[in-house]
Amino acid sequence: MQTEHLNITDIQSQESDLRRAAAILQNGGLVVFPTETVYGLGGNGLDAAAAQKIYAAKGRPSDNPLILHIAKPEDAEHYAITNDTYYRLANAFMPGPLTVILPKRDCVPTATTGGLDTVAIRCPSHPVAHRLMELTECPIAAPSANLSGKPSPTCAAHVAQDMDGRVDMILDGGSSEIGLESTIVKLDGDHLTLLRPGGITYDALCMVCEHVTVADAVTHQLAEGERPLSPGMKYRHYAPNAPVILLKGSDERVLRFLRFAQEEENCAILCYDEELPYLQDRYLFPIGEREDLETQARLLFSALRCADRTDADVVYAHLPPMEGLGLALYNRMIRAAAHTVKNLD
Ligand code: TXA
Ligand code: MG
Repeated sequence: MQTEHLNITDIQSQESDLRRAAAILQNGGLVVFPTETVYGLGGNGLDAAAAQKIYAAKGRPSDNPLILHIAKPEDAEHYAITNDTYYRLANAFMPGPLTVILPKRDCVPTATTGGLDTVAIRCPSHPVAHRLMELTECPIAAPSANLSGKPSPTCAAHVAQDMDGRVDMILDGGSSEIGLESTIVKLDGDHLTLLRPGGITYDALCMVCEHVTVADAVTHQLAEGERPLSPGMKYRHYAPNAPVILLKGSDERVLRFLRFAQEEENCAILCYDEELPYLQDRYLFPIGEREDLETQARLLFSALRCADRTDADVVYAHLPPMEGLGLALYNRMIRAAAHTVKNLD
């Protein structure tokens, strides 16, 4: 398949390009589009055949459900059974990096929801995504636009690495602002379960809802045979070719370990900016300052992709904190590392 690459810098003057993208979606084709979190691999969310194409393009097991992207929070009415709590969340966080899981309506094919009777709903804030959804006039089913098992793409170049020749069109809307996938919550009445932490933090959710529980799988490895609340939790995502090892310990101890490792091993390192002067420049990928979790979120997946392109035997990274946006970083890193943490204290 020939993939058309389009750079969208101005949605008004490029309305005809976006109309063409919308027509592809309406006719059952696949379009990659930018969002504020990561790039999405879109198809018509009401078309079972389009869902099958998405799974095939990603190489993803078809029991892992897709998120339905909508232009306005109230569009959820057509596809899901909402309640007051949904609208409280929508008022606080939509459009934005939040996905809400609700009971689905019959019009949503089970091919889109991986056979589940619930559906994930998200209203992205990126202007290109927003205009595309308005023009398409149907919900867009979209997983992250990476090959299954690769880090989610945060720029069009990363999308092209994975999806060139597998989709009809790639819309380039620049680098993703947040860089980690949306926060996912499941709604049961007024009770929220946090299934995947992201740009909307646990504390922010607690400001809006009284009852918020964090699913075990966010921070812990599932036991053999245990069924996760979200099918996606059972897959080892974001995994570079070389094993990732997370380092836990005081700043000095971690730095001493890394300096030693650079002498003894063929390693890649995801480091903090503060450490740059003390480490050799080989296979070194800075992800921002130690306290700057926003920048770390933005750069993490790109750094993992870069580490993947080296011939390093092992990738070292810091174990992120669990507070605030740190929980989202922790969740992605612990899975990239298949829960391998080296304690240096
Ligand atoms: O930021 C994002 O959410 C991006 C952009 C493109 O919007 N999308 C994204 O989609 O990350 P994906 O498919 O890579 O991750 C969606 C996750 C999967 O782990 C899936 O298992 C879970 O959401 N999910 C979807 N529908 C679900 C449902 N009905 N019940 C439980 N989990 C669900
Ligand atoms: Mg994904």
